[in-house]
Amino acid sequence: MNNANIKPAIIAGSGLLTMPELLIDEAVTVDTPWGEPSGPVYRGRLNGVEVLFMTRHGDTHAIPPHKVNYRANIAALAQMGASHLLAYNAVGGIGADCAAGSLLVADQIIDYTWGREHTYYDGGEGGVEHIDFTSPYDEALRQVLIDAADSGGVTIISQGVYGATQGPRLESAAEITRMARDGCHVVGMTGMPEVALAREKNLPYASLSLVVNPAAGKASGPISMADIEQILDERIPVVRGIISRACALVSALPRATC
Ligand code: HPA
Repeated sequence: MNNANIKPAIIAGSGLLTMPELLIDEAVTVDTPWGEPSGPVYRGRLNGVEVLFMTRHGDTHAIPPHKVNYRANIAALAQMGASHLLAYNAVGGIGADCAAGSLLVADQIIDYTWGREHTYYDGGEGGVEHIDFTSPYDEALRQVLIDAADSGGVTIISQGVYGATQGPRLESAAEITRMARDGCHVVGMTGMPEVALAREKNLPYASLSLVVNPAAGKASGPISMADIEQILDERIPVVRGIISRACALVSALPRATC
């Protein structure tokens, strides 16, 4: 495949509203058959690569996880010619290794969300299809994120199960105990249906998770928003570095890696 067709798209989550190192050429308001995306899709250059960038919760972080129009977001990026989707999510840590500040690239997901528009194959004109979801994340793209962390000397947990909850409230301690029993290592509110929709569009997708708090019941007392803000302040520059290096590494990948 010609590198001209490689166009990684970054889906940015909590704490990451802008990337100053992204040189923006245009902001595009994209119409999709699924309604309005969370905001404009920015086209620009990052680390020498043409990329797309959008914020999952909108540019002012006004859209809660259960109201994000995931179908429109993925469709908008596909319409803009995205070849690979690199997502960033803030999460709570469940696994013993997942202390606040850790970074993880999930290889599996369990969906606890409900009531979200979660498929393009909704019957009628959309048709009926059952995509394979055995390995929800694209393995080559996951490796890109891991290599991008390694090459920057950043420690990263290279696999784990992301438990996707409905939000916007955080979980009870008992819910987290159940999720730990289910095998979840981290918990977040935005992993689904995003990764499934990417698979339906045949777009390779991988996600970088930043643990911003111990999940409910994993530390003494309630979850502190001030502590979350502090972790975001400290670690978002590291996240930006990984994503930026990952965009350069994506250039070496074929498009159809699913
Ligand atoms: N639970 C769910 N989503 C989250 C959390 C959490 O503890 N932290 C950040 N996003």
